[in-house]
Amino acid sequence: MKLLITGAAGFIGSNFSFFWRKAHPEDSLVLLDALTYAGNRHTIAPLLGKNVRFVQIDIADRDAVQALFAEENFDAVVNFAAESHVDRSITHPDVFLRSNVLGTQVLMDACRAYGGVRFHQVSTDEVYGDLPLDRPDLFFTEDTHLHTSSPYSASKAAADLLALAYFRTYGLPVTISRCSNNYGPYQFPEKLIPLMILKALEDKPLPVYGQGRNVRDWLHVEDHCRAIALVLLRGTPGEVYNVGGHNERDNLTVVKTILAQLGKPESLIAYVADRAGHDLRYAIDPAKMHAQLGWLPVTRFEDGIRQTVQWYVENRAWWQKILDGTYRQ
Ligand SMILES: NC(=O)c1ccc[n+]([C@@H]2O[C@H](COP(=O)([O-])OP(=O)(O)OC[C@H]3O[C@@H](n4cnc5c(N)ncnc54)[C@H](O)[C@@H]3O)[C@@H](O)[C@H]2O)c1
Repeated sequence: MKLLITGAAGFIGSNFSFFWRKAHPEDSLVLLDALTYAGNRHTIAPLLGKNVRFVQIDIADRDAVQALFAEENFDAVVNFAAESHVDRSITHPDVFLRSNVLGTQVLMDACRAYGGVRFHQVSTDEVYGDLPLDRPDLFFTEDTHLHTSSPYSASKAAADLLALAYFRTYGLPVTISRCSNNYGPYQFPEKLIPLMILKALEDKPLPVYGQGRNVRDWLHVEDHCRAIALVLLRGTPGEVYNVGGHNERDNLTVVKTILAQLGKPESLIAYVADRAGHDLRYAIDPAKMHAQLGWLPVTRFEDGIRQTVQWYVENRAWWQKILDGTYRQ
């Protein structure tokens, strides 16, 4: 099969590219990325070669996307390309709408124009808004109504609705997965876990929003990649699949776990003014993924976080290039 992976130089897209290459070495891959600040071509460089090529294209650039589809004969597209950082969406919502909504539309139009190419949209649990901290019995199911809090989540929800509309209106074979917070190697150090690891390694203050009580449902990126692969190969077009690990931790607990592993004092924690509109709790009910596709996460948080901290300790060369800006060369 010939697969187009967009956002392949980002965190989850690169992990998925490595994952797919290993699982399906016979497949041809086109790794697409606009190389925004979040894209890092060094990450995927080891993958390039026979049957795997990289193209620097903006998914919202209709001409460039159409030209790529005319040149290649894709069997499927997995769309990871997006602006992904909530804080940035609060200061610059426009770029989120362009990449996350229009970009998704441009890709789906190309899929339609070239024979109804199978399209998978990688989405987020943030489209459901948040849950109260004092109701641990509540979870997001695929039927929970969309109730977004940030320009980021609103742009992802818009793309999801557009994808479902392309299924219903044009019959485009679309699936959507909505996943909880990911962690693992190659995550850009603006996100909570790598940010805290790097600050701790450098004995700098660890900025924690509010009281650090916000709860996230953490999933190792490899478990997410396996889920996406299952949905792509065996999912039903027109369907949404929630992906999460029942691994809820509040931010302060996660930060303290990292400090303990690195042998750093909790006095490094610096509480800062809370994020505007900060969601309290996300919690996914992944029962459909389990019942219909047999998916279950395999990495326990305790193991995954230990491996991830160790990965950043051992891969200083990767993140040092980000801190000093040379990763963009
Ligand atoms: N990180 C998480 O915890 C998480 C959880 C659930 C869902 N998601 C979703 O997964 C996807 C990937 O997230 P991530 O954490 O890897 O993000 P990321 O920011 O690390 O990577 C995004 C990649 O997309 C590229 N990109 C951005 N705009 C583009 C455009 N217009 N054209 C082409 N490429 C573009 C960037 O250069 C970058 O390489 C996103 O759609 C995100 O909404 C992420």
